[in-house]
Amino acid sequence: MEPRWSPRGPLRLPRCSACLLLLLGTAGFFQSYAVEVDVKDASNATCLYAQWMMSFLIKYETNSSDYKNATLSLSSNVTHDGSICGNDTQAALLAVQFGEGHSWSVNFTKTNETYQADFITFTYNTNDTAVFPDAKRKGPITIVVKDTMHPVQLNNVFVCHNTDSIEAENVTQFFWNLTLQAFVQNGTIGEKESRCDADTPTSAPTVLPTDANITTASTTTLSPAPTTVPKPVENPDTGNYSLKSGNKTCLLATVGLQLNVSQDKPLLININPKTTSADGTCGNTAATLRLNDGNSRFIDFTFVVKNASANVRRFYLKEVNVTLLNHINGSVILSADNNNFSKWDASLGSSYMCRKEQTLEINEGLQIHTFNLRIQPFLVKENKFSTAEDCSPEVDNFIVPIAVGAALGGLVVLVLMAYFFGHKKHRNAGYEQF
Ligand SMILES: *[C@@H]1O[C@H](CO)[C@@H](O)[C@H](O)[C@H]1NC(C)=O
Ligand SMILES: *[C@@H]1O[C@H](CO)[C@@H](O)[C@H](O)[C@H]1NC(C)=O
Ligand SMILES: *[C@@H]1O[C@H](CO)[C@@H](O)[C@H](O)[C@H]1NC(C)=O
Ligand SMILES: *[C@@H]1O[C@H](CO)[C@@H](O)[C@H](O)[C@H]1NC(C)=O
Ligand SMILES: *[C@@H]1O[C@H](CO)[C@@H](O)[C@H](O)[C@H]1NC(C)=O
Ligand SMILES: *[C@@H]1O[C@H](CO)[C@@H](O)[C@H](O)[C@H]1NC(C)=O
Ligand SMILES: *[C@@H]1O[C@H](CO)[C@@H](O)[C@H](O)[C@H]1NC(C)=O
Ligand SMILES: *[C@@H]1O[C@H](CO)[C@@H](O)[C@H](O)[C@H]1NC(C)=O
Ligand SMILES: *[C@@H]1O[C@H](CO)[C@@H](O)[C@H](O)[C@H]1NC(C)=O
Ligand SMILES: *[C@@H]1O[C@H](CO)[C@@H](O)[C@H](O)[C@H]1NC(C)=O
Ligand SMILES: *[C@@H]1O[C@H](CO)[C@@H](O)[C@H](O)[C@H]1NC(C)=O
Repeated sequence: MEPRWSPRGPLRLPRCSACLLLLLGTAGFFQSYAVEVDVKDASNATCLYAQWMMSFLIKYETNSSDYKNATLSLSSNVTHDGSICGNDTQAALLAVQFGEGHSWSVNFTKTNETYQADFITFTYNTNDTAVFPDAKRKGPITIVVKDTMHPVQLNNVFVCHNTDSIEAENVTQFFWNLTLQAFVQNGTIGEKESRCDADTPTSAPTVLPTDANITTASTTTLSPAPTTVPKPVENPDTGNYSLKSGNKTCLLATVGLQLNVSQDKPLLININPKTTSADGTCGNTAATLRLNDGNSRFIDFTFVVKNASANVRRFYLKEVNVTLLNHINGSVILSADNNNFSKWDASLGSSYMCRKEQTLEINEGLQIHTFNLRIQPFLVKENKFSTAEDCSPEVDNFIVPIAVGAALGGLVVLVLMAYFFGHKKHRNAGYEQF
């Protein structure tokens, strides 16, 4: 039996005879390909279907003992050996192999109503000299990461056009343009669609009536912020973000963010809180808030605790890491990291607040402007911010003496000048009288 595609469904999935098609096959070494895997059961009916794009940013140690970031994208020679349909007792497995000994897989489990991605296993081979020319250790490295996908209703196809990322063990995995259905029944894909959270706010059209509209729709998706007409000086909207540990909030942040990217020409990008999701890690002495703006922009803020004196402990912002990807091929446009900050300093157990605009200089090419900031990365109680330590008094303490000093200095200069010119004028006047 050949897979049946719902003819008037929202998705126009191409028929797959070779079971693995490579789309977007334009040449280019790092070109990211759309992978399509169509796994069939014993009766030739589709039981697991996925089409997606992905790329990896991998930090590795070089032979000169520093660290470099490499981008690994899918090449044309992708296979899908070992993929499994799965059933009530056995997990489904989507597995692909690509390039010089790299492989990636994810398993899916089901309940009576839902299916869900479980663990991602990724193996990259630092023997691949095209990607890791100067790797210190050569050979395969495997990492396993828990997937963060929410459960999807059985018989629903999961669609996510926005970029999502998972960061673990020196590897950031990026996924976008995803269409997926596990535990497909009767070979029928896409009867109903589940969208990821990131797609819904921009309400991308789910039904594309004509081919002309498809073209329009995809051009719109490619432009980074279709709803915002460029208005560079407008301040960004303020977003509320939080992290949970179990069911307790462990990190709280309120902030409006604006990136100032100066590559070829300066570009101000406002981060839209409506499409931005937060994840990261909480801890007793270190915490990371990772924001994903749904437009292939990732900003990591890392906070640490220090002992100010024997029994006074404070936290501060230590590191900011920004990654901007090309929305189409997943290549890295910019990856900037500064782990030398000591900003946003406040005592442990309180929150740090700064309503006025502040600038974090990540490197020569990138600044982040923050607005209406309030952050508490540690010891959040009852889902609420604790007492705020405000940046303005601190700054005032610093500014006031300088201002007073400058004013006094100015006054002295004025008095001296008045005195000098006064005398000079007087003398001149005197001379003229002769
Ligand atoms: C990705 O696409 C951009 C243009 O859209 C191009 O400039 C860039 O070279 C591409 N990168 C890779 C690695 O293919
Ligand atoms: C499944 O389809 C393939 C080709 O599409 C065919 O060669 C094979 O015999 C079919 N198997 C069954 C069990 O129908
Ligand atoms: C599930 O699949 C496995 C292997 O494909 C098979 O051995 C097992 O009998 C199946 N279980 C059910 C309940 O179909
Ligand atoms: C590191 O590896 C590169 C590529 O193999 C090589 O050209 C370079 O000489 C090596 N450097 C050191 C310090 O071994
Ligand atoms: C990951 O990076 C850290 C340094 O940041 C290094 O110590 C560690 O060995 C790296 N792990 C792998 C698997 O490369
Ligand atoms: C699959 O087919 C069976 C029998 O043909 C039917 O009872 C069932 O409702 C179908 N399931 C779906 C999801 O279409
Ligand atoms: C953010 O939180 C503040 C205080 O809890 C609230 O007043 C504000 O409406 C929230 N903003 C959004 C966009 O949810
Ligand atoms: C953006 O960054 C550039 C270079 O760092 C700087 O010259 C420019 O003033 C910044 N623009 C804004 C609006 O902050
Ligand atoms: C800071 O103080 C805590 C206890 O107050 C102690 O456990 C920790 O080791 C100290 N850290 C440093 C770096 O001194
Ligand atoms: C910064 O983030 C990128 C991707 O998210 C990651 O590859 C890189 O290792 C990070 N750098 C540091 C120093 O954490
Ligand atoms: C997403 O995939 C579709 C094909 O399903 C393709 O036409 C489109 O260009 C892709 N979009 C991006 C941003 O890669």
